[in-house]
Amino acid sequence: MDERLIEVAFPLKQTSLDSVHEKNVRHGHISTLHIWPARRPLAACRAALIATLLPDPGNTEERKELLERLGGRVVQRVKPKKLPGGRIEEQVTEEHWGRESSEDLNWFREKICAAYGGRAPKVLDPFAGGGAIPLEAMRLGCEATAVDINPVAWFILKCTLEYPQQLANQRRPLPAFACESYEFMESYFKAKGFKDAALRVQLESLGLNGHKQSSSQPQLPAIQTHVASVEADLAWHVRAWGWWVLQKARADLARFYPTVDGKPTVAYLWARTVTCKNCRATIPLLKTRWLCKKENKRVILTMKPNETRTGVDFGVRTDLQPGKGSLAERLEFDKQVGGGTMSRSGATCPCCGTINTKEDIQQEGLKGCLGAVMTAVVVEGANGKEYRLPTTEENRLAPEAESELNEVFTQIPFGLPKETLTLDAKGNTWCVLYGVDTFQKLFTPRQLLALGCFVKYTRALRNVMKSEGYSDEWIEAVGANLACAISRLLDYCNCGVQWKLDATTINHFFVRFAVPISWDYAEGNTIGDSAGSYELCYQRICTALDTYSTWGISAPTPHIANVSAVTWCDNHLDAIVTDPPYYDAIGYAVIMDFFYVWLRRTLYGLSAEIDAAFQQPLSPKWDKEHNDGELIDDSSRFGGDKAKSKAVYEDGMFRAFQACYKSLKTDGRLVIVFAHKQPDAWGTLVSAIIRAGFVVDGSWPIQTEQVSRMRAQSSAALASSVWLVCKKRPETARPGWDNQVLQEMQSKITQRLHDFWDAGIRGPDFVWAATGPALEAYSEHPVVKKSNEPGKVMSVSEFLRHVRRMVVDFVVGRVLSHNGGQDAVSGLDDVTTYYLLHRYDFGMESAPIGPCILYAVSCGLSDAALTSRYDLLARTGGQTPVEEEAAEGNAEKSEGEEEGTSSTVKLKQWYQRKNPSMGYETLVGPPAPLIDQVHRLMHLWKAGDVTKVDDYLYTKGLGHNALFHQLLQALIELAPAGSEERALLESISNHVAARGVMPAYRLGLME
Ligand SMILES: C[S@@+](CC[C@H](N)C(=O)[O-])C[C@H]1O[C@@H](n2cnc3c(N)ncnc32)[C@H](O)[C@@H]1O
Repeated sequence: MDERLIEVAFPLKQTSLDSVHEKNVRHGHISTLHIWPARRPLAACRAALIATLLPDPGNTEERKELLERLGGRVVQRVKPKKLPGGRIEEQVTEEHWGRESSEDLNWFREKICAAYGGRAPKVLDPFAGGGAIPLEAMRLGCEATAVDINPVAWFILKCTLEYPQQLANQRRPLPAFACESYEFMESYFKAKGFKDAALRVQLESLGLNGHKQSSSQPQLPAIQTHVASVEADLAWHVRAWGWWVLQKARADLARFYPTVDGKPTVAYLWARTVTCKNCRATIPLLKTRWLCKKENKRVILTMKPNETRTGVDFGVRTDLQPGKGSLAERLEFDKQVGGGTMSRSGATCPCCGTINTKEDIQQEGLKGCLGAVMTAVVVEGANGKEYRLPTTEENRLAPEAESELNEVFTQIPFGLPKETLTLDAKGNTWCVLYGVDTFQKLFTPRQLLALGCFVKYTRALRNVMKSEGYSDEWIEAVGANLACAISRLLDYCNCGVQWKLDATTINHFFVRFAVPISWDYAEGNTIGDSAGSYELCYQRICTALDTYSTWGISAPTPHIANVSAVTWCDNHLDAIVTDPPYYDAIGYAVIMDFFYVWLRRTLYGLSAEIDAAFQQPLSPKWDKEHNDGELIDDSSRFGGDKAKSKAVYEDGMFRAFQACYKSLKTDGRLVIVFAHKQPDAWGTLVSAIIRAGFVVDGSWPIQTEQVSRMRAQSSAALASSVWLVCKKRPETARPGWDNQVLQEMQSKITQRLHDFWDAGIRGPDFVWAATGPALEAYSEHPVVKKSNEPGKVMSVSEFLRHVRRMVVDFVVGRVLSHNGGQDAVSGLDDVTTYYLLHRYDFGMESAPIGPCILYAVSCGLSDAALTSRYDLLARTGGQTPVEEEAAEGNAEKSEGEEEGTSSTVKLKQWYQRKNPSMGYETLVGPPAPLIDQVHRLMHLWKAGDVTKVDDYLYTKGLGHNALFHQLLQALIELAPAGSEERALLESISNHVAARGVMPAYRLGLME
């Protein structure tokens, strides 16, 4: 096999559409088995694996066919969309999904097997995390190996890859208690497609006449239907035992969740409290007093000082009418009537008005003096959710749960989760700063009791299953999946969970990957049936398992290892596809310890292998003695030494790539996902890859987040992740010379740039797509020396600067020539080049910072210089610190997304650029950027003084500057029709033409 498909072409658009779509799939997706940060979409992993494992056909026709089979066709749909004000607009969207289990997968499986001479290729992911890559490798029939240093990830990999595969073709009778339950068997047969009379036949065959059958029900018709088997797969056994656990736990917990007036409890709402530093009153820390804010239902919590002014009395108000006026006025009204006590400055005492600052609250927290008060209870009424104050009984019961904790936790290995939370350099677990420093403190007593009960019974079922004749294999698989159900419950059952005002339900905790402190929170009903109940949690696990069984995976047994990627060695691998950690983007171990401590308790004793993985009280972070561990840039591990931490991370990654090199066959391929917005970080990792012995020869940016999600787009992670393709460099490779390497790069890349452009790749994606192929010329050599500077080498970053410049010149050439030009433009200054790139992609709208940094770097600039020195960009999105955002309740993200700090920028309008020196150069400085000169001309023209315009044109020699004419023309086309900007530019253009200096037509582009 010579070239691989991924080294030549890739269905970029289709894969991006599928990947984005997948993020919205919540039911049945394998990712719902367990939370793991930064999961990659299966669609992206699948397409990358196929294109890596299959050879490029070598001719355009066959390649096109293969790409179409891999990606399918993008379909355009016109959908009506309601705009604010009721106007309906037709929107064209591009759609392309539903290929998850398409028939084509079998075709690809066969093709891949054939490409490897009839055997299953061996594929490794040494940073496997949630397992998206190895899972797709298995679906493609490969022999997959998944490695991760974190025991929680390792456990998820077992649940995702190993157990379902092990029991894939096994069925066994459902346990007796399930067969005896009308409720359970009814759901079982319904899921098998039985309904009405046929359903009743099935139930009767088990002697279940049903409590639901009334005397008025018609007699069973004499229908002919076979009696379905109660031999069920793993998913149904997990359902049965989850149901068993629930019944047991319900019996123990019911008294702690009393039903008042026949209305089941949905959630208890709480606020932390602090004592006012001035008047000593108890202040409830509330971000908002809104309880429900929907169009047709508006409920707030009222609050007034109590008689003794030692605290507040709450009430519930349901008759609140919306405010009047504009949207802004109505929003302001809502803010006023439903405002809480918390603001950015701290908590305002409702009794004396004193502001207790965040530092005051922090001090109280560290002394263990923060309390909590139940503010309201949400119940399920006949017509939806109802809100009321807690009863005396409810107030009494909540703390009473504490007295039962010892009894439950003495039956659980390692007892209550008293392990200490680790505070990393990034402050991911910043609740610690407020005294919430052990895992136990993250829960109310009732939550601890409930979790303890579910753990206790999940452990107890092992013996019961054994007595029912289950094999160890089955017991481990069922026990492990129900441990996942507890992890899922944990995400909904802790003191950080928020009440959603619009959806009137509780949200899950990990809306961002951090463990913050929440001032107010919601406590769901673990034994009920709404969000936050154990029932919904185990059901979701089973739905994911159902999906798995429909896939019918046929692949060799996967290998799953809980070791470091640095030490992993496995000769003869055909491909390594991996998505490593990036600097300090996510503190996996520190954050996922939240699950670790509970999994350790739940799983202990399930197998020797599991006990070994969860031996330590917390997951491994960094082992100084062995210089190995989780590869994260976290300076807290090195006494705050940032440089050391960065160096250790980079060295670790280098060693991991070296291990990949050793493990790969000579013609194997390494594909590395890169998802960091800083192109500099990219340069560092790429040089580590090259040093480890690889040639980089491809890069594809796959979009994984919805474009509309600006918050996600502007986060530290890219909206696109770049998939970098590498092959082994022959050991005979010789050092190269910079001039030759640059020449080779230029000749290689020119055709590729045209191909990518013709394939419709645009924007930052274009830069990323071109970078990989360009890097081939550089990385073919173990080192590239500088011909004019003896003893010096050209770094990757230097080389990349040349590449990016060439790429952006090509793009600007297209922009200046209406896509029609044949060549790149040259000689245009950096700032104007940046302006055109930015304007072409984002117009004058806010743009995510990631691509802007890439463009800036490509033009030899920085976003900071463009904002301050050149006054070209304005920051539009705040760099909100993680802590503040979460505390203000702004974190509204869906499960599994990455997060960082938000930031957006936009181009300044010409009239906003008021610096008097704009467009004039200093005596010693470089010439003023051409875009500044155009904007200066616009100011002069607008002022109406033609003499000044002519003087300016003359002194700058603009009339004879071909680039000026091209730029003017391009700006006219980029400006909105009918705008003042366009009118001014056209007037200037006509004026220049009329003066006969040079016609305002498009000139041939420069060579
Ligand atoms: C970006 S995540 C992988 C996510 C994965 N692709 C998915 O779709 O779920 C990176 C992973 O590297 C793991 N990791 C960090 N250091 C490691 C090391 N030294 N060896 C192996 N795994 C490591 C982390 O635990 C984390 O799961």
